[in-house]
Amino acid sequence: MFDIEITGTGRYVPENKVTNHDLAALVDTSDEWITQMTGIKERRISLGEDTTEMAVQASLKAIEDAGLRPEEIDLIILATVTPTYYFPSAACLVQTRLGAGQATSFDISAGCTGFIYALNIAAQFIKCGTYKTALVVGAEVLSKITDWSDRKTCVLFADGAGAAVLQRGKAGIIASFTGADGRGADYLYCHGVPFGNQLVPVKDTQPHYTVMNGREVFKFAVNIMPESILKVLEGSGFTLNDIKYFIPHQANIRIIDSAAKKLKVDRDRFYVNIDKYGNTSSASIPIALDEMSRKGQLLPGDLIVVTGFGAGLTYGAHLIKWTKANY
Ligand code: ACO
Repeated sequence: MFDIEITGTGRYVPENKVTNHDLAALVDTSDEWITQMTGIKERRISLGEDTTEMAVQASLKAIEDAGLRPEEIDLIILATVTPTYYFPSAACLVQTRLGAGQATSFDISAGCTGFIYALNIAAQFIKCGTYKTALVVGAEVLSKITDWSDRKTCVLFADGAGAAVLQRGKAGIIASFTGADGRGADYLYCHGVPFGNQLVPVKDTQPHYTVMNGREVFKFAVNIMPESILKVLEGSGFTLNDIKYFIPHQANIRIIDSAAKKLKVDRDRFYVNIDKYGNTSSASIPIALDEMSRKGQLLPGDLIVVTGFGAGLTYGAHLIKWTKANY
């Protein structure tokens, strides 16, 4: 069994900012409503870059940050619900764009918990010795599956990518936990291609947009986030007090506030950047990690918990000791 550490991070968000005021010109909403109900002030929306392109940009930064060459990567796992194609996987497209040799490459779909799941899978491969160096990416262009006339969803979702390099090394990833409850699949989904073929005509022409029961997702999230944090700490020998930062999926400021309150943890120990980026699904956690690392907020020896929830419904968390030297 080998120990695993995060040795590099990177992020990429489109240049184009869309403010709440911009959205208020599009649908019946207001800056006040969006800010109060979600914590979002602005988000980045792609003007053309797709998931693969953004994933490549974030990955290049993460690989450089780790001090590696792309050909040293032997595993690429890309979490996304908005791949460029159904197939080939975005991971394969990223592999060739990076020049990452023959790295085993595949995508996973776990909604906004995608990065948490992907990190877990990569960690297992490294732990058991199959691979030495993994690139884990969360990349989304949610704007292309958003109904821009639906005020209940279009104010939430955004585009971006984040990446992390995992290597055999120090004991960085201490504990991991993932789970799912498919009974909640109807609360958050986006249709695929409707059934139909030469024998059976297409009956249904569902739009390919995100459909969300916000209330139900909210109820699920406020319970599962604190539960996931406690679960990943269980048996680790560490308590809430030992954790410097909790880095949650950025879906709604009220969900984060509620988790902090339930756990009786100072809210300042929960990292928040939803005001700038909105909900970027599987990209939100690696974007936050990279931002914190480059700002010098994460120092060697710091204990952090990353935690997510999302479509599936899925959830999970990792307890991580930061081992990367400061900038
Ligand atoms: N602007 C103004 N009014 C709005 C808007 C808007 N953008 N959206 C909804 N409203 C109105 C509704 O029409 C409704 O009005 P009505 O009472 O006259 O019918 C009222 O506000 C309340 O609507 P709800 O949908 O019930 O509002 P709710 O209190 O549930 O808040 C929200 C909505 C913010 C989306 C909340 O449900 C939420 O955050 N849920 C979790 C969503 C989430 O986290 N999603 C992603 C998680 S997983 C992932 O990241 C993919």
